[in-house]
Amino acid sequence: MDRLTSILIAAGLACFALSFVLSGLYPWLITDHKEPEATIEVVAHDVPLEFKGLREVYPAAFDASFQRGAECLSEKQLADAGVGPADPRRANSDAAWRAAYADAIHRGRDRYIAEACWHCHSQYVRPVSNEDVRFGPVSVARDDNNVLQRPVMWGTRRVGPDLTHEGGLRTNDWHVAHLWNPTDTSPGSVMPRYTWLFDDGFEVRRRIEPDTAERMAMSKDTSYRMASGFATKAAADAALAEIAASLPESRAEEKARLFVEEAKVPNQEGLAVVSYLQWLGTWKAPVPEGQKP
Ligand code: HEC
Repeated sequence: MDRLTSILIAAGLACFALSFVLSGLYPWLITDHKEPEATIEVVAHDVPLEFKGLREVYPAAFDASFQRGAECLSEKQLADAGVGPADPRRANSDAAWRAAYADAIHRGRDRYIAEACWHCHSQYVRPVSNEDVRFGPVSVARDDNNVLQRPVMWGTRRVGPDLTHEGGLRTNDWHVAHLWNPTDTSPGSVMPRYTWLFDDGFEVRRRIEPDTAERMAMSKDTSYRMASGFATKAAADAALAEIAASLPESRAEEKARLFVEEAKVPNQEGLAVVSYLQWLGTWKAPVPEGQKP
């Protein structure tokens, strides 16, 4: 019996040693270690439209949430201020966008870990079972050679879908609605609600034209969100006034259809998680010479 125990212990240790060599040591030995790990500045260099869109919809929450958020200017703001391509104000705004974006996706990654999203989602498309048909191109190691994949977010289980290529797949609005209550967008979903990623706030809305309501057989109270993410009613009222003032004379009658309403708005962490989801899969490492893309 003693002999059997010794054999089992030895076999167990041998299996451990083998897996250490195969999964740890061997990959490390065959890596040339020439490519430096991409820094946050590198992965946040190209600011996507989705991130800019978050500022359009949640201006106050956005500006208060991210580094240099208040210095980011939209194309419209730049045009209104008469800023040309060579104007230093544009370069400043571009740098501010990158800083805000870097801050947001880093924060979003940390929140992804803290909320254990990785417990139900993988970030690794395997070259088996036609996974690429469901989730997009098979993962390559070099794309994980960046600071946001430390520790790697490959995950171990898939209660929900793989998120490797989630960026740009859905709209910001979809993610916001889904995080507030997953079954609103995905009936039967077992994903939990993340209500603490939202705060009580206010938003500016606009009722549709009475003509349109009648023609489309919609309620005349149907409205669209114009700007959101205001912590106080006074701030939302100010935004309403700004929107009203920006309407040309020909659209003056729209002013009467603007109103302020209480709303749940994503807070700093909520905006960060959405930014991170929209970032996933958008950064690709340069392909070394002689390797397949
Ligand atoms: C208990 C498991 C579970 C946890 C924890 C979980 N999810 Fe999910 N998630 C799911 C399931 C199941 C779906 C598929 C149904 C749906 O769309 O809700 C899903 C879908 C998604 C989708 C949509 C993917 C697509 O494009 O179809 C995103 C994005 C997502 N989850 C993000 C998150 C984030 C961010 C967190 C953490 C804050 C999280 N999930 C935590 C189970 C989970």
